[in-house]
Amino acid sequence: MVKESLWAILIVVKTTILGIETSCDETSASVVEVSSGGIKILSNIISSQINIHKKYGGVVPEVASRAHLESINSVIEESLLASSKTFDNINFVAVTCGPGLSGSLVVGFSAAKIISSIFNKTLVCVNHLEGHIYANFVGQNQKKIKFPAIVLVVSGGHTQILKMTSHLKYEVLGQTKDDACGEAFDKVARILDVGYPGGPNIEKISKGISEDKYNFPRSGMGVKTGKDKDGFVIKINPDLDFSFSGLKTAVLSEVRKRKSGRLSKYDKKEIAASFQKAAIDVLVKKTIWAAERDKAKSVLLSGGVSANKELRKNLKKETKKIKVDFFVPDFELSTDNAAMIAIAGYFRNLKEKKSEVNINPNLKLVR
Ligand code: KG4
Ligand code: ZN
Repeated sequence: MVKESLWAILIVVKTTILGIETSCDETSASVVEVSSGGIKILSNIISSQINIHKKYGGVVPEVASRAHLESINSVIEESLLASSKTFDNINFVAVTCGPGLSGSLVVGFSAAKIISSIFNKTLVCVNHLEGHIYANFVGQNQKKIKFPAIVLVVSGGHTQILKMTSHLKYEVLGQTKDDACGEAFDKVARILDVGYPGGPNIEKISKGISEDKYNFPRSGMGVKTGKDKDGFVIKINPDLDFSFSGLKTAVLSEVRKRKSGRLSKYDKKEIAASFQKAAIDVLVKKTIWAAERDKAKSVLLSGGVSANKELRKNLKKETKKIKVDFFVPDFELSTDNAAMIAIAGYFRNLKEKKSEVNINPNLKLVR
């Protein structure tokens, strides 16, 4: 393990990383430079497939991998051009190896592997979730983020509260038992028929609308019980696991209550706002519980749902109350992008020189 005191020495040298991300429906390449001045993103090109998948109401894996294939070369070229770097200037290549869609992952991974063999560069495999977490370490944040940190990861496929004890070391404190939070946003958007992508559309139609019209359920806010070694029921507090399927079902029931089956535009807005509030309340409360219990020095928000302004605002407010520093990536680094992969790759490469040499659609952050 690299000792904290060594970080300062290690980053005196300038390191240039080419990051590649194709785990879902964004083809992205980025050039990131790490020096004593901090972590600087020189380019971060993202080719979104939103318009392609829109007509299907969600990501179609085969369509996604074909779209990645069509754009990967130009996205990489563009990222180099925008950063005024060439393959020769790159120290190593960092690529998402999982979790994600296998047909999508393989496109980015193959491109990274070809570049690394032709130009004789190390290939570093990055976990997509680790990428989301490290999107917080841009600029001077690398020095400002103190451990232990509580990390809320909220994406389309994952919802977890992690305790980060040092760089690349995590403990899972809680996770969803059913739907991921982003998935719940996407499903509710489908129920309300407000289009794809779900999360941003729910946020958009909720803006300025009362959040209190519907009292949707907030799961797991009570005391969790378990059994001790002798089989006696004991209280486990706080419960840091999540469940969003009940919330989604409550929205569905509300919609089905209407005899006509029709919802006015305003009904949709009110349901969306109350749903968003219920989801955010649970995310914020549990993150604060974890931060207080484990005496966190920082709280980090990450994953696609971290683009949600209400979530950012509420978590910022609550962390301020408990006097813990709060970090959230810039909006363009909240959702999938390759800069976060390059940054996580930088830290991975410092720790382990060898790398996994294949994709793993079910790659786990904590094994
Ligand atoms: O991290 P991400 O870009 O891709 C995955 O790794 O899954 O996260 C995508 C998820 C989607 O479910 C999307 O609806 C959600 O993040 N999302 C949002 C917002 N922007 C993206 N959810 C709520 N509010 C948003 N503004
Ligand atoms: Zn993601």
